[in-house]
Amino acid sequence: MTQRRPLVAANWKMNGVLATIRPLVRDVLQGLTEDIHAEVVICPPYIYLSEVSALLAESSVQLGAQNLSQHGAGAYTGEISAAMLLDYNCRYVIVGHSERRYLYGESDELVAENFVAASNADIIPILCVGEQLQEREAGNTEEVVARQLDTVIDKAGIDTFAKAVIAYEPVWAIGTGRNATPDQAQEVHAFIRLRLARHDDTIADGIRVLYGGSVKADNAKELFSMADVDGGLIGGASLQADDFLAICQATR
Ligand code: 13P
Repeated sequence: MTQRRPLVAANWKMNGVLATIRPLVRDVLQGLTEDIHAEVVICPPYIYLSEVSALLAESSVQLGAQNLSQHGAGAYTGEISAAMLLDYNCRYVIVGHSERRYLYGESDELVAENFVAASNADIIPILCVGEQLQEREAGNTEEVVARQLDTVIDKAGIDTFAKAVIAYEPVWAIGTGRNATPDQAQEVHAFIRLRLARHDDTIADGIRVLYGGSVKADNAKELFSMADVDGGLIGGASLQADDFLAICQATR
């Protein structure tokens, strides 16, 4: 079995201004001791990519974006391309976050196109999948996650998952303070890996599957101790340096 290096990614969403971002990044960098062996990624709002890119330049922390356009360039007002993200050294990009899917109407197909745009530019997509509360209650979790995943596999091809990350984020756990239990997370993470293994065992074994949804300093260790949980995608708790650092520590 492959040893997967844990990854902890901060998704700041639409939070922070320069006055808060600068000290936050500084405190995170100061607190990241060498015994944290997780890869750490920060995904600020687009407009702060330049600033955060400069702040992270001498560090081992990677930069990520929260979304990208499926198009290369052109008349797409308000959109940001993969090439623009590369200008600021973005190594990762979140695609298909549930807030994009459900607040901004991104379809499975669009998410797949965004995934392809990232892959083609050699930016590592962090593909978010996850069910809504009513889907879980109806017993449809696996069906929903399979559909979200299969659309991307069909469009992008399984080989692109050799350089990709998946984040399982149950929608009912995001920003609610109600996290999935470690067993609930493990069950879906194992399912995701199996789904990929239908196409390629090696890729399924090597890919990092993150959990996201109300990960906090006090529940991270339990979640990250599960066999198929390779780290986390952290929203609210990534806005406080101490909390975020404690979550990074919890991958040990
Ligand atoms: P919270 O950690 O605030 O629940 O957000 C999770 C998330 O959506 C990360 O992408």
